[in-house]
Amino acid sequence: MDLTRLDATHHVLDLGCGNGMIAEYLSDRTGAHIVGIDFIEEAIEHAQVRTARKRNRLEFEVGDMALLDFGAESFDLVLAIDALYFTDLEQTVKEIRRVARPGGILAAFYSYGRLPGEPLESFSELVLRPEGTPLAHVLNKAGLPYRTWDYTQADYLHARHKRQIAKALKPLFEAEGNLFLYENHAGEAAGVMEAIEARAHSRYLYLVNL
Ligand SMILES: C[S@@+](CC[C@H](N)C(=O)[O-])C[C@H]1O[C@@H](n2cnc3c(N)ncnc32)[C@H](O)[C@@H]1O
Repeated sequence: MDLTRLDATHHVLDLGCGNGMIAEYLSDRTGAHIVGIDFIEEAIEHAQVRTARKRNRLEFEVGDMALLDFGAESFDLVLAIDALYFTDLEQTVKEIRRVARPGGILAAFYSYGRLPGEPLESFSELVLRPEGTPLAHVLNKAGLPYRTWDYTQADYLHARHKRQIAKALKPLFEAEGNLFLYENHAGEAAGVMEAIEARAHSRYLYLVNL
């Protein structure tokens, strides 16, 4: 928010917005007009119902980020928070460029690391550098300049906190018959912590000039 200096004049597209909580938080704090898209219909429905009274500055639509249903030069800022892992990156970056106004920005939080089961010996630490990730390769190929901020340590602390909270809530998950949710959250957090301890995981914010 500080880096992009969002305000009420900005039009923002949030790619892979999930249930729209982050888009809502950002719009509440800054007044920015934000459109969130996700291909999970249920998540979009939740977002639409929850924010019905904020429709003048918050909209949510079902959509595929690799095939954006918006006109050219519609947005000042495109957000992609942990959303660029499950899409055709090259095609998505092409679409982001099309819908962003000249001089617009892509802000992407992006983690990368050793794939599950990949032997540590054959894993190259070079891919953990900000210029070594798959996202960096696609941005370079497209000739898009970017700056990065390293959030790996923050990711570690976040994972540790998440694991503590999951443990504290375990009895509630169990009482609801949702122990698998506890296992998912705690397992994911432990996985991130282990990977960072083994120097096999990194996380960056990419700010890309479009
Ligand atoms: C890890 S979640 C992140 C959600 C949210 N940005 C956040 O940070 O809380 C990734 C989201 O991207 C969405 N997604 C993945 N690929 C997509 C695509 N091609 N088009 C639209 N949404 C996509 C998923 O449905 C999911 O909600």
